[in-house]
Amino acid sequence: MNVLRFEDLVAQGKVAGQRVFIRADLNVPLDAAHQITEDTRVRASIPCIELALKAGAAVMVTSHLGRPTEGAFRPEDSLAPVAKRIGELMGREIPVVANWVDGGGVVDVKPGQLVMLENCRVNIGEKKNDEALARKMATLCDIFVHDAFGTAHRAEASTYGIAQFAPIACAGPLLAAEIDAITKALANPKRPLVAIVAGSKVSTKLSILQALAKNVDQLIVGGGIANTFMLAAGLPIGKSLAEPSLIGDAKAVIEAMKARGAAVPIPTDVVTAKAFKADAVATVKAAADVAPDDLILDIGPQTAKRLADQLMKAGTIVWNGPVGVFEFDAFAGGTEAIARAIAASSAFSIAGGGDTLAAISKYGIKKDVGYISTGGGAFLEVLEGKTLPAFEILQRRAGG
Ligand code: 3PG
Repeated sequence: MNVLRFEDLVAQGKVAGQRVFIRADLNVPLDAAHQITEDTRVRASIPCIELALKAGAAVMVTSHLGRPTEGAFRPEDSLAPVAKRIGELMGREIPVVANWVDGGGVVDVKPGQLVMLENCRVNIGEKKNDEALARKMATLCDIFVHDAFGTAHRAEASTYGIAQFAPIACAGPLLAAEIDAITKALANPKRPLVAIVAGSKVSTKLSILQALAKNVDQLIVGGGIANTFMLAAGLPIGKSLAEPSLIGDAKAVIEAMKARGAAVPIPTDVVTAKAFKADAVATVKAAADVAPDDLILDIGPQTAKRLADQLMKAGTIVWNGPVGVFEFDAFAGGTEAIARAIAASSAFSIAGGGDTLAAISKYGIKKDVGYISTGGGAFLEVLEGKTLPAFEILQRRAGG
């Protein structure tokens, strides 16, 4: 993907003394006392900020936080806790600037200094990518750096419009790393390419399944999604979560894969319980033997072994979703087997999605995954085969 990269501008000495506006995704979870409960995105955003400061730029960074009402700022919308955390991590004070859009095109920041511009989503016109707002933001900077992969699927004033009107628009190191990993996994994969798509409902991931069915060599399904595919394959699922109305769509995915010489491996054994509880008795049984009052809560050991073997032979692995109820230890075996196979495989792997990240963390395999995406919705839209607005505008600004 041809985009201008901030790291290249720095290497070419084009950043010193420039006003650099970084759009990061610092949309982190906060508790009732406004304390950050998970700071991965904050940490992931620091390299870009440091790069700009070291290069001698006057640095402004902003992000959205939550979904505030435009024009109606409340104290809980403030990025102050985020500025504090970045300040702690970088060992410096970071002033938070409010009402930064209507300051006549000026934010008071000098080369070598860093300020945080208050929650960009309280600006009227942000969500709708209002042109006047985007132009005002663009006048604040010489270089616009998009480093917010988590928001790359949104075309808003601070993510899209500003990239249209800023003198220079480029990708920050985090966005560039996501672009590179996505390209390596999906556009130019080493084969076989194996995708794991799991979750409670086919309906929420149908477009992903359909898009991947055109590209991957093995499409491993898990969770409630696998139950609907088992129904499509004529297997009993008892009272397990499934969407019978989507059996036709599941069959179409299976057929599309078959027609390409690819496959959707259907579980041959499963772990069942009579109730959805952490202490429910777990019973391993053949997929064909699921009883009418059974709930399928995980893939069985034979299926896990077969899938793990496929992952070990893969050239590329894309992972979105745990294959069982891994929060309950008795039903975590399938997800653990998948995680360990991904960690042990020599394949390039990319993983994304909240539950997937929780599984990666539970099994301590973070360093063994090729790339862990910081995107939630953005990562899913990539899997759907969509061109994200951020990629489109940055490519356009790069001239192709
Ligand atoms: C996310 O948390 O997925 C991103 O920050 C995007 O947030 P949004 O869904 O509110 O646009």
